Amino acid sequence: MIAEGSYVLLLCLLILSISTVAIGQNAPFIGLNEEGEGIFTKSHPYDTSNYGVLQLNNGLARTPQMGWNSWNFFACNINESVIKETADAMISTGLAALGYTYINIDDCWSAFLRNLKGDLVPDHKDFPSGIQALADYMHENGLKLGLYSDAGALTCQLRPGSLFHEIKDANLFASWGIDYLKYDNCFNLGIDPQKRYPPMRDALNSTGRTIFYSLCEWGEEDPALWARPVGNSWRTTDDIIDSWESMTTIADLNDKWAAYAGPGGWNDPDMLEVGNGGMTKQEYRAHFSIWALMKAPLLIGCDVRNMTSDTLEILSNEEVISVNQDQLGVQGRKLFSEGKDGCSQVWGGPLSENRVVIALWNRCSITVIITAKWDILGLKPSSSFTVRDIWKHEYLPDVFYESMEAEVESHNCKLYILTSLESKAVN
Ligand SMILES: *[C@@H]1O[C@H](CO)[C@@H](O)[C@H](O)[C@H]1NC(C)=O
Ligand SMILES: *[C@@H]1O[C@H](CO)[C@@H](O)[C@H](O)[C@H]1NC(C)=O
Ligand SMILES: *[C@@H]1O[C@H](CO)[C@@H](O)[C@H](O)[C@H]1NC(C)=O
Repeated sequence: MIAEGSYVLLLCLLILSISTVAIGQNAPFIGLNEEGEGIFTKSHPYDTSNYGVLQLNNGLARTPQMGWNSWNFFACNINESVIKETADAMISTGLAALGYTYINIDDCWSAFLRNLKGDLVPDHKDFPSGIQALADYMHENGLKLGLYSDAGALTCQLRPGSLFHEIKDANLFASWGIDYLKYDNCFNLGIDPQKRYPPMRDALNSTGRTIFYSLCEWGEEDPALWARPVGNSWRTTDDIIDSWESMTTIADLNDKWAAYAGPGGWNDPDMLEVGNGGMTKQEYRAHFSIWALMKAPLLIGCDVRNMTSDTLEILSNEEVISVNQDQLGVQGRKLFSEGKDGCSQVWGGPLSENRVVIALWNRCSITVIITAKWDILGLKPSSSFTVRDIWKHEYLPDVFYESMEAEVESHNCKLYILTSLESKAVN
C-alpha cells in the first residue's frame, strides 16, 4: 500500500514538474508572493500551487462557462419547442449578450433504445426535427448547443449511456454540431471514474470538433485531484436542490478545492437555482455572488421565458458577472468566519489589475455587522482602496485602510470590488 502510494506520488511530481514548464504562461498570480510587490502580503491565503497545471488545453474554458441548462426547472419535461423558446428568451432578455451562450439540453432528449446501427436517437415525439436542427438554430442565433450523456450503461433517467460507445457517440455529437457535453455518472458499473471519463475526452478530441467537456462525477472521487487533464470543469458535489441549506452546503464543499481551479478547468458546484422559487431574493443574491466569486460555471437553471424582474436583475448584474469572468481566473474562497456555527463570513479573492473581490455573507438568522480585516484578506495593512458595492452599483464615499465593515441582513451577501490606490501596475 505504502509503496504503491509513493509510486503514484512520484509519478505525479514528475508529470507536474514537466507540465509546469510547458504551460507556465497560465500562472499570472505567481509573483504576487514576492515581498514588496503588489498589494498582497507574502503569506496571502490564495494558494494557487495547482493553478493552470495539467488543464485539458482544448482552448476552451479560459473563463468559467456561462449559459442555461434544462434540468433544474424542466427535468424530463423537455422538447424542441421549449429549447427554442428558451434560446429566444435568452436573446430577448439580453442574457445571451452578457455571455450566457451555451444552451444545454440535459437528460431525456434521447429515445430509450439505440437504433439498429447502434446509434443514439433523439426521442421522436419530443424532438421530431432532431438535434442537428436545434444546433443549427443555435448557431444561426449566435448561441451554442450542449447535450448530455452518461459515463455508464444508462443515463440517470434510463436512456442508453455512452460507456463503451464513446467513439460512436462522440462522432454522432460532432456530426450534429454539438458544442458542449455534460457527462453524468449513473449506472457506472462500479468502474473507476478515472477509467470511464478519459475515453470520452479522447473520443471528443478525435472528432476534430472543439467540444466543451463537463464532467458530472458528483465529486465522489475528488475529481479536482485528477480531472484537470480530463475535462473543462468537474462537479465537486452532489446535485444542488433549490434550498438555502443545499446551496450553503455545496458552497462549503466546493471551497475546499479552490487551489485546483484555473483557466481551462473549473470546479463545478452545480447549476444555478436563481429564479426557481425555493429561496428568497437575498438568498438568491448570495447564491449568485458566491458562485461568481468561486469561479463556478454560471449556468442558469430557471424558466427564462417567465422570469420575475428580481430574477433577471440578479442574473444580469454585469459587475458580478465580471468577477466570475475576470481574466486572472483565481477562485475566491472562504477566509474568515465567526459567530454561531461560523455564520458571519468573509469570502474573497484576487482579481486582475490589483483588485480584490470581497463578499460579506451573513448566514446567521439576524442582521450582523461583518468586518473584513486586510490581514485575513492577505492584503498589506498599509494598502488603501476605493470600494465599490456591486449590488448597489455605487462607490462607497471613503478610502479604506486596514479593514472595512458593513451591516448585512440575514442571509444576504454584500459584494465589493476593492481597487488599490497604488495600482501602479504589478503583474
Ligand atoms: C414542451 O415542453 C413544455 C415544457 O415542459 C410544455 O409546456 C409543452 O406543452 C411541451 N410541448 C409539447 C408540444 O409537448
Ligand atoms: C486535441 O488535443 C490536443 C492535445 O491536447 C489539443 O491541442 C487539440 O486542440 C485538441 N483538439 C480538439 C478538437 O479538442
Ligand atoms: C410564470 O411564473 C409564475 C411564478 O413566478 C407562475 O405562477 C406562472 O404560472 C408562470 N407562468 C407560466 C406560463 O409558466
